[in-house]
Amino acid sequence: MKLEEFEKYKDEVIKLRRDFHMHPELGFEEERTSGIVRDYLNDLGIETRIMAKTGVVGEINNGGDKRIAIRADMDALPINEENDVPYKSKIPGKMHACGHDAHTAMLLVTAKILSQMKFEGNVRFIFQPAEEGLNGAKRMVEEGAIDGVDSIFGLHVWAHLPTGNIAISPGPVLANVDLFRIAINGKGGHGASPHETVDPIVASSYIISSLQSIVSRNVNPRKSAVITVGRINGGTAFNIISEKVEFEGTVRTFDEDIHNLIEERIRELVENESRAFGVEAKIEYEYLNYATVNDENLARIGRRVAARIMNVVEQEPDMGGEDFSEYARLIPGLFAFLGARNEERGIIYPHHNPRFNIDEDALIYGVAFEVNMAFELLKN
Ligand code: NI
Repeated sequence: MKLEEFEKYKDEVIKLRRDFHMHPELGFEEERTSGIVRDYLNDLGIETRIMAKTGVVGEINNGGDKRIAIRADMDALPINEENDVPYKSKIPGKMHACGHDAHTAMLLVTAKILSQMKFEGNVRFIFQPAEEGLNGAKRMVEEGAIDGVDSIFGLHVWAHLPTGNIAISPGPVLANVDLFRIAINGKGGHGASPHETVDPIVASSYIISSLQSIVSRNVNPRKSAVITVGRINGGTAFNIISEKVEFEGTVRTFDEDIHNLIEERIRELVENESRAFGVEAKIEYEYLNYATVNDENLARIGRRVAARIMNVVEQEPDMGGEDFSEYARLIPGLFAFLGARNEERGIIYPHHNPRFNIDEDALIYGVAFEVNMAFELLKN
């Protein structure tokens, strides 16, 4: 289908997006959004199942053995919207600042168009909750969201790319996301008598500095990695040596060997430096998201399909994370970045910013891609 044929759905997709935008809901609380999604699909004659508390899965069954899936995420962020638009968030402290409102709206209209067309094969629509840090995708997978599915794709609107462009690349596009929490216990006392104490603040300062040497000294300089300590907490007053310091941070990587190397080095450095300073350390290390790695064949098909309707560019791997990886590590997956740059104010506000917004003209490009990609995958 040509881009012009989608024009007539433009008002509807914008209207849906604005409605979701005005009523943002956080992860696993998407009751209203999920209700609208379910009713919309049911009205199209698509049966639905509820999964992962607020997730919705619907499927068009037109026979044949092929089954593909398209995924949208539905959750918003705990951010107070600062945009001055008629469809501004009505909920203080909550905002669709990543564009998941757009993802949900586009996939609904895609489902509508596909439900009116004739084709052989099965298309599953996955509306998942809680992408932002709560790994809703993992629960969707556990509850059967991709059982029997041959391949899956999803879009993310992208503030860094102008409308009419889409970024599609094979291989890793988003990073492994780890979280570490470290507690350093010393022995508190008077700030004037350090010799009677074991100072966890001095020890933590050395430990945090040495963590930065992992990327600069242990990781192959041709590979990518980030270690960020994002929070530190310790002490109560200027003249008291604290009992305890806690800090936490994130590690971002693409390669599994680098992933393992960094975890090992963090443990070694924390243990050795703690011993040297006489403090006690406790380390918690969690894997939050796997890297999102695009299937080569799907990326090739995606680029070919997209080139008929818009400009296709390469996606530089980004150190951000996505729980789309939960699907893409089990079945062939493609995660593409839809240009939706909003230049109204001349400044581009990034994702997760209180003034983030998208160019709504991008929505119809997204629908056009989803519909055409679904067709192409069922044909292949
Ligand atoms: Ni997002």
